[in-house]
Amino acid sequence: MSFEPTPLLDMTSPEAKRASYDTLVAQTQALLHGERDAIANLAQFAALVFNAVPTLNWAGFYLVNPKNDQELVLGPFQGKVACVRIPFSRGVCGACARTREIQLVEDVHAFPGHIACDAASRSELVLPVVAGGALRAVFDLDSPEPARFDAIDAEGFRRALDLLVAGTDWA
Ligand code: SME
Repeated sequence: MSFEPTPLLDMTSPEAKRASYDTLVAQTQALLHGERDAIANLAQFAALVFNAVPTLNWAGFYLVNPKNDQELVLGPFQGKVACVRIPFSRGVCGACARTREIQLVEDVHAFPGHIACDAASRSELVLPVVAGGALRAVFDLDSPEPARFDAIDAEGFRRALDLLVAGTDWA
């Protein structure tokens, strides 16, 4: 595999952000080319995002537990060690898994039931990962900056995750 990692993306204005997410989507496509293994692709994607997207302190996946479809289990990620199991009934990740809707939390301290894995986290974005009609995982992003994420971030990660879903074999 030949892959040129992107330097830290510019997210200092809405225009720069949109262009940066175009780059991230193109990089996702290049990174996953020719490889469909789920663990490898999820791990690579988490590493790409954590190193390319500014002001994150955690980026990674919680996978739906194949033995309990109401529980998430920690998957490939970058950042500090994190909580391992999250019931669908708890936290921002659980809310995303339950509703299959993007969760954009400007202030995690104001979110009832937020699970604080890293005390530095102030805002959070969680997206569902659905393949073949089934929820497979959620992709969780944490930032030490309040209100770090907006609709441009949500849309950019949704596009990148669509590529990841299409380019991966899900068991
Ligand atoms: N904050 C998340 C838990 C996962 S960690 O942030 C990595 C939540 O409330 O679901």
